[in-house]
Amino acid sequence: MMVCEYKPGLEGIPAAQSSISHVDGQKGILEYRGIRIEELAEKSSFLETAYLLIWGELPNKEELEAFEHEVRYHRRIKYRIRDMMKCFPESGHPMDALQASAAALGLFYSLRDLHNPAYIRDSVVRLLATIPTMVAAFQLMRKGNDPVRPRDDLDYAANFLYMLNEKEPDPLAAKIFDICLILHVEHTMNASTFSARVTASTLTDPYAVVASAVGTLGGPLHGGANEEVIQMLEEIGTVENVRPYVDNLLQRKAKIMGFGHRVYKVKDPRATVLQNLAEQLFAKFGHDKYYDIALEMEQVVAEKLSGKGIYPNVDFYSGLVYRKMGIPTDLFTPIFAIARVAGWLAHWKEQLAENRIFRPTQIYNGKHEITYLPIDQR
Ligand code: SDX
Repeated sequence: MMVCEYKPGLEGIPAAQSSISHVDGQKGILEYRGIRIEELAEKSSFLETAYLLIWGELPNKEELEAFEHEVRYHRRIKYRIRDMMKCFPESGHPMDALQASAAALGLFYSLRDLHNPAYIRDSVVRLLATIPTMVAAFQLMRKGNDPVRPRDDLDYAANFLYMLNEKEPDPLAAKIFDICLILHVEHTMNASTFSARVTASTLTDPYAVVASAVGTLGGPLHGGANEEVIQMLEEIGTVENVRPYVDNLLQRKAKIMGFGHRVYKVKDPRATVLQNLAEQLFAKFGHDKYYDIALEMEQVVAEKLSGKGIYPNVDFYSGLVYRKMGIPTDLFTPIFAIARVAGWLAHWKEQLAENRIFRPTQIYNGKHEITYLPIDQR
């Protein structure tokens, strides 16, 4: 067998062949099925982009309408899932609630008909449709309220914001939220997608695939960084505090949340679009002083770390957008998950098409031929 060099974190090691998305980390380009994200952010919708990623082509008018219709009418969650969620502790993190709920959904659809296109489509629709409902339901229930029913007359983004706040969202906020979902939907072989593909490769069900990916996304080195960024900006408090705060982190060799990326060595193109979206919201709903702190931070970090190719990533400005919409900080990562479900499902489908179970090797650096020592001699 060929022996490969060990690369911690599998850096630079291809784990799959994929035609879903592409990143050029030197030029700061991200494409979904060959289309630049900036163009999709401007012209597409989240569900159309999800369709593109999962089925490989942009839908025509009838295909898109049929897909939107199916997702719209599958938004309700079973009362047993709601009842189960009511038992979750209010203090639990919404990502944990989401992971448990996504896995529980699989209990209701235990037939695994992975070769049947209708099964694939139903699973895609069900997961895309119900994940936002589950996130909103937990948010209301942890406040002691009943979840609200999804509204069939609202589109995907507007309905989620409605379910969360129990009132129809401002149209600009809904549009911007939809764009945020487009920006987060897919990103090559990131940790949660890898996790999804590993799980998929065992030929388990798509609910387990999504649940394992949600668990992976939640960590602060991955999707969980968007929450930590806001906590960090709040802790810094003033523009003047930015420089000493960054110096202190660097002295301690701590990571600055929302900065750096395994692939991008320039500013993440999604961060640029998100920053622009935040500015649109500030223009309409008022400025946020934490944006000034973020701008100063971007400048100070560039001064100190641009030599290492460390710039803002997708998680740096997204929180400022959600904050302006009045969304609680601990829902930022579940929102990332709402979007990324479509990317995970695209990879699930691609993995199934040419499946081989993931089973890498390891470099054993432990002992051999050790004799068992009875407990009273240890
Ligand atoms: C996401 O992979 C994806 O595509 C993910 C994602 C997606 O859409 O799916 O883009 C979403 O997860 C964004 C990343 C969110 N995480 C954070 O913002 C946390 C802070 N960033 C990092 O910890 C880090 O940059 C990672 C986890 C994002 C990347 O880690 P790597 O590739 O393993 O890099 P590393 O930690 O080995 O760092 C390499 C060097 C080190 O310096 P040296 O020891 O070589 O001198 O860069 C430095 C690091 O110290 N460095 C940082 C830094 N990130 C890297 N120094 C300070 N602050 C940082 N944020």
